[in-house]
Parts: sequence; structure tokens; C-alpha cells
Amino acid sequence: MTFSIHNVAKNFGGLSVLTDVSFDVDPGRIVGLIGPNGAGKTTLLNIASGYLGTRTGTITLEGRRIIGRSPAQLHRLGMSRTFQDGRLFDSQSLRRNLDLAAQISGRRDRPEEYERVVGFLQERSGLDVPAANLPHGTRMLVGLAMAITRRPRLLLMDEPLAGLDQDEVSLLLGSVRSLAASGVGVILIEHNIDHVVRTCDSVVVLDRGTVIAEGAPHDVVADTAVIEAYLGVSLHA
Ligand SMILES: Nc1ncnc2c1ncn2[C@@H]1O[C@H](COP(=O)(O)OP(=O)(O)OP(=O)(O)O)[C@@H](O)[C@H]1O
Ligand SMILES: [Mg+2]
Repeated sequence: MTFSIHNVAKNFGGLSVLTDVSFDVDPGRIVGLIGPNGAGKTTLLNIASGYLGTRTGTITLEGRRIIGRSPAQLHRLGMSRTFQDGRLFDSQSLRRNLDLAAQISGRRDRPEEYERVVGFLQERSGLDVPAANLPHGTRMLVGLAMAITRRPRLLLMDEPLAGLDQDEVSLLLGSVRSLAASGVGVILIEHNIDHVVRTCDSVVVLDRGTVIAEGAPHDVVADTAVIEAYLGVSLHA
């Protein structure tokens, strides 16, 4: 399911947060979305997944224009996302969170990646713990399980690796790769460049709301403009 972002812009009041952002995500591809804090990554994901609107630009899912559709409508079209803050239904148990996501998805057939993540959670903490007591890394894994309950065709992930231990990182990245191998398109926001280079098929770099580089992971991380954006200095003497 080809996902295409074309000339998207966003202002908050007078503040321009995104300008002329364009890139595509093809089925089965993992696109890394990187950039310094405040670059506009989450804002772009919020627009792409129906949590925020904009009047400028076009986003299409398999050719269908989707700006203005609700998150629920987009979910039914095959899009799922995870949240940077690892948000869950905090007053409910881990199991109840999974059940609620399953109810919303309305389907019984879970992808094998879902079973793997839930099996891991079962071993780690059990499923009856209150969600409010879960550490951030566990919350991100629950968020992943909830997002893939109904096998999405497009998965948008906002810094899912922050706060995860090594086993959790392996599980999460293994699951994402396996989903991609079965045709799911992925946008992965991530600050750890090693993870990005190892996992992504291509990388898009946002800096102050504009795409400053795009391409193969190794080329992008060696790009002078990208290094400058991260260091906040000019490398030209
Ligand atoms: N609702 C809002 N109202 C006003 N400004 C906002 C709003 N949401 C985000 N911003 C601003 O937009 C800019 C981009 O924020 P965004 O959260 O998209 O960045 P990010 O790339 O996800 O950063 P991080 O890596 O820290 O998560 C920031 O300057 C932020 O303060
Ligand atoms: Mg963010």
C-alpha cells in the first residue's frame, strides 16, 4: 500500500513547523524519519495519522487522499501508529489494554509478531499488571502489540526504542523487520543512528520542518548537511 506525502506544511499560530515535506513509503519498506528535537517529526506523524489537520499538501494511501480523515477511519484503511509518550489506558491492566485494541480492530486473526510480543510481555511482567505501573520500555512494546493487533498495512512508529533494554530492542526491531518482510510499510522515527542504519531501507532527515536529506541510510548519515543539523554548527570553514 503506497503511502505518499506531498508538499505538506503546518503552522501553529504564526510558527511554521513543517514546510513542503514530501516522501513516499512503498509496501514492505522501512523508512527512517530522523532529525533533531523539534524538527517536526511527531507533527508530521500526527498529520499522517489523522490526529492533526492541515490545509497545505496532500497525503495519499494507495492513491486515496487522507488528510481530514479521522484516526479511526485511517485505522480501518490499514494504518496503525504508536505514540512517543507510550500512552496506554492507565487505569486498566496490560491484558485489558490488549483486549481493547482487539475490540477496536474487530478482528480475531493476530499476526505472529503480535503473539511474539505478547508472549514476551507475559514472561516479563505477566498480563495482569496495571498499565500505570509499567516502565516506559514495556509501554512501548504494549503499544506495538496494540498497533499490530489488526495486521496493519502501514505502521507509523514514534521513537519506539527510547527506554528499551537490549532484549526489548531486539524484539521490537525483529518484529518490525518481519512485518515489513510480509509487505507492511513502516515509518520509524528514531534518534539512535546505529539502529536506523541497521534497520531502515531508506532515511528521510527533517530539520526545522524541511527535508534536508533523503536516501540510503549510509549515505544520509554521512551527509554534511545532516551532520551539521545534528551538531548545530557549520562544517564549512
Ligand atoms: N500543538 C502545538 N502547538 C504549538 N507548537 C507545537 C505544537 N506541537 C508541536 N509544536 C512545536 O512544533 C515543533 C515541532 O515539534 P515536534 O514535536 O513535531 O518535533 P519532533 O521532531 O517530534 O521533536 P522530538 O524529537 O523532540 O520528539 C516544535 O517547535 C514544537 O514546540
Ligand atoms: Mg517527537
